[in-house]
Order: sequence, then structure tokens, then C-alpha cells
Amino acid sequence: MSRSSLIEPNGGTLVDRMVTGAERDQLSGKAGSLPAIHLSDKQACDLEMIAIGAFSPLEGFVGKEDFESICTRMRLANGVVWPIPITLAVDDAVKATLAAGSQAALYHPDGTLLAVIDVEEIYPHDKKLEIPNVFRTEDEAHPGVAAVMAEGDWLVGGPIHVLTVTPENEPGEQFTEHRLSPSMTREAFDKNGWKTIAAFQTRNPIHRAHEYLCKCSQEICDGLLIHPLVGETKPGDIPADVRMDCYTTIIEHYFVDERTMLSVMPAAMRYAGPREAVLHALVRQNYGVSHFIVGRDHAGVGDYYGTYDAQNIFDEFEPGEIGVIPLKFEHAAFSIKAQGMVSAKTFPKLEGDQIFLSGTKVREMLARGERPPKEFSREEVADVLIKWATSEVGAGA
Ligand code: ADX
Repeated sequence: MSRSSLIEPNGGTLVDRMVTGAERDQLSGKAGSLPAIHLSDKQACDLEMIAIGAFSPLEGFVGKEDFESICTRMRLANGVVWPIPITLAVDDAVKATLAAGSQAALYHPDGTLLAVIDVEEIYPHDKKLEIPNVFRTEDEAHPGVAAVMAEGDWLVGGPIHVLTVTPENEPGEQFTEHRLSPSMTREAFDKNGWKTIAAFQTRNPIHRAHEYLCKCSQEICDGLLIHPLVGETKPGDIPADVRMDCYTTIIEHYFVDERTMLSVMPAAMRYAGPREAVLHALVRQNYGVSHFIVGRDHAGVGDYYGTYDAQNIFDEFEPGEIGVIPLKFEHAAFSIKAQGMVSAKTFPKLEGDQIFLSGTKVREMLARGERPPKEFSREEVADVLIKWATSEVGAGA
């Protein structure tokens, strides 16, 4: 990255595991004769994140030493901060086809050949170590815990060589226009002359509280990267294509184009609260941002985490260990008395003054074709959601 003044990637080097030209031809030629591993949706998301450098410094799925070090001390074995192990779990039957020191072919759930892995290690999947450390709970009702519990009992570690991240047969939207890799967002920030950039992670439509966080960040940074997660999410979350319509709509009506960029992050959600907030921050550092928005219960689910646990975890690291600066926001809501968005930091709490709506309540209103109050959601966004919620697809979701 010559002459760019942007932040360094986590670990110092932006990884690129995509192979091209003769190397690609050679690998795709030989893949058919290698043992096959059919990835889950989550693993396919992880593969793309590694391939494009979003998970720098990881060059592949983690080995045993890194796995243990990540689970117990939130760092890779070499000391670089890393909070959640990125693993390739396989079951007994697949394990029996593999051998350390050889290679295997990795396939998307739709059958597309994606990559070849150098199988450096095959080791037992220590779920007893991973789950309580990463999720701070062992409750199988937690969607992230359930996902790990359902995975195979063996982990395959080693670097990957990626032929493509685009599945051939999967129907639906790939968001190609907004699918920028870390090197592409970095190039765009430099082109815009942005030196400080705040990133906004979300897996929801942008409602008024989200918009407020974004706007506050824009006041102190040169640019804002709206960076929705579009990989695997749990049933009940609003589908990524509907959310993308919400994002483009709100940007069109309520944001300044020259100061706002929309791009997607193809990662899977883990709902690991605090540890996932650190992962989200480091990944955005790789995309080149200097600041990262962390609001209330970031990446949380149910009531497994305290409202500000995902902010407090950043204080457990030494200064400079995490390059990106967390922008910590209190719970924000619209105040009728103040006629604007407030938090406990900016306006006294008055009985019944603030507009709160649960996700369930909002979904019920949308399904009835009713707009939530404009203090909660912009009308233009509400209309996109109503169109989906009252359609056959939305009603069944
Ligand atoms: S998340 O799983 O991506 O965290 P969501 O899309 O709801 O869920 O949140 C995006 C970001 O906005 C997170 O940083 C979250 O903490 C923050 N956030 C959401 N709602 C509020 C709110 N009312 N007040 C403060 N922060 C909020």
C-alpha cells in the first residue's frame, strides 16, 4: 500500500489467498482427484473472508496451537489479537479420507469448487474449550453455541488456495456491485481523500438509533462505511437482500453521498457478543477504517450479554494492540421532550419520554402493513420493510 496513510491491517500484512493464471489452472485440474470437503454456509463465508484478506493475518483455517491460544487468551499463538477461532470442522467420515501433509478440495454447499487446502493438521474439535470461552455460555439455545455443537468433531488446519468465492449455482443476489474486498475499500478511501473512516456493522435495517450512531460518527470522521454483514444469519433475522434495499433507500434520502460508502461484509454471524465485537473491529481495520461503532449489546442475542460487555472487552487489551478505535455509544432512543435522538449521556431520563419498540413488536406492525412511528424508523425504510413483510416470502419468514 504505497503512500497510503490508512491504518495497517491486523498483524501488519493484508492477506490475499486468491490464485490466478497457471497456478489456478493447475489446482483446478488436480482438485477432482483430491478428497472432497463440502463446506457449510458458515465455513463458505469464512473461506471468502480469508480469501480476500478480511481475516488477515489468517491464511487459512486455524491449527491446534492457534485454536487453543485464541480460545484461552484471545490471541494467535504469535500474540496478534484474534478473539474467535476460524475453523474447518469435519465429521468422522470426512476425516477418514484426509491425511496431514496432503491436500483436499473445498466445495461450496451448492457444489462449486472453491479452493484447495494444504492439510497441515487434523486435530480433535475441543468444543468444551471453544464454547464457554467464545460464547460465555454453554446454553444450546444460543444460536452460536448450537452451530458449533452441530459441527464435526475434527478440525482441519492449514492455508487455503482459493479459485473463486462466487458460487455458480446458488440463486439470488450476490451484491456484486457492493462486494468490495479490503484492498478495494482501501483504494476507495484513498481516492476519496478520507484519512479517518468510521465503520458501522449491522445485521438489521437502519432505524433511527442506528442512523444516529452513524451521523455522530460522521461528525468526527472524514467518511462513513456502512458495512452490513450479509453472510449467514439466524432464522428470524431480516434477509440481506431486503436490508440492502433499506440501506440504499436511507442513504438516498438521509445521507450525504460524498461522505458515505455502502459495502457488504460476507461474514457469518456468530452472536458471540463481546468477542464478536472485537472480531468485527479487527476485520474493519483490515478494510482500512480507523474507527468502529460499538453500541449497546453489539452482536448479542437474547440476554446472554450485558448491555455494554461488548464495549468493555476492548479495555482488556493493551493500548495499540487493536489499531482501530472503538466508538462506544450508549443506548440511544428518540426523546419526545427533546424532539431528537438522545442517550443517558445527553438527556435526563423522564418517565415515558423515550420511544422503545421491541423487534417482535416492529415485525408485527410491518406484517399488518403498519409503519412503526417515524421516531423509530424512517418512513421510506418502513415502506421497504412493509413491502417485504406483507409479501408471500416475508410472511413466511
Ligand atoms: S449487531 O448484531 O450488528 O450488533 P444491530 O444491527 O442491531 O446488531 O446493531 C448494529 C450496531 O448498532 C451495533 O453496534 C449495536 O450495538 C448498535 N445499536 C443498535 N441499536 C442501538 C441503540 N438503540 N442504541 C445504541 N446502539 C445501538
